[in-house]
Amino acid sequence: MDWDSAYRGEGAFDGPPPWNIGEPQPELAALIRAGKVRSDVLDAGCGHAELALALAGDGYTVVGIDLSPTAIAAAEAAAQERDLTTATFVADDITSFSGFDGRFNTVIDSTLFHSLPVEGRDGYLRSVYRAAAPGAAYFVLVFAKGAFPAELEQKPNEVTEDELRETVGRYWTVDEIRPAFIHSIPPRFTDAPFPMPAHDSDEKGRMKMPAFLLSAHKPA
Ligand SMILES: C[S@@+](CC[C@H](N)C(=O)[O-])C[C@H]1O[C@@H](n2cnc3c(N)ncnc32)[C@H](O)[C@@H]1O
Repeated sequence: MDWDSAYRGEGAFDGPPPWNIGEPQPELAALIRAGKVRSDVLDAGCGHAELALALAGDGYTVVGIDLSPTAIAAAEAAAQERDLTTATFVADDITSFSGFDGRFNTVIDSTLFHSLPVEGRDGYLRSVYRAAAPGAAYFVLVFAKGAFPAELEQKPNEVTEDELRETVGRYWTVDEIRPAFIHSIPPRFTDAPFPMPAHDSDEKGRMKMPAFLLSAHKPA
């Protein structure tokens, strides 16, 4: 997946990336409202960073990291436009970044996990664990198996609950994994004639795709 070309509108999608919903994923917005998020926050694989921007709007100090310079430039421009001074953005590879050891009290993965190749997961988990402070919370919103048509060759690396628990549990203490939804603009893949599975829609006409929300922590 060439992430930067997706953000430049030249990728596999017929239009803007389907994950750009213009606001934080509702499952993660609910976590913020429930008081589960503490500064400083890492928005891992932030993309256009609606999550980081919403957190900064609420007074949190937040760093967004993404591989795509185009997405990072868009996030920086949005922060400037909204006059948000506590959000900073870095173009880097989340599977190997450094320079933030022990810094973050919360790490949030808004649909990054399934975007990484399976062989990139270990480096990712090791890197974000290193960047987390003792006692930090870690949240992952990730597609569950069955979210996409089985026939689709190029699709996100959807997970089973056991796979997610085992993989994250190599580094983090997993507290809970529960069924959740990822809200998405219905994707139109230019190279795939397969229909999407019949998922429900939300009140804004977005697809509610099956997912897991994982909560974990780093021992204090
Ligand atoms: C599905 S998008 C989610 C973006 C954003 N978190 C959201 O909720 O809208 C996945 C993001 O992960 C980023 N990404 C993929 N591989 C990455 C890597 N190795 N390091 C950093 N970011 C990566 C992509 O550029 C993309 O922005």
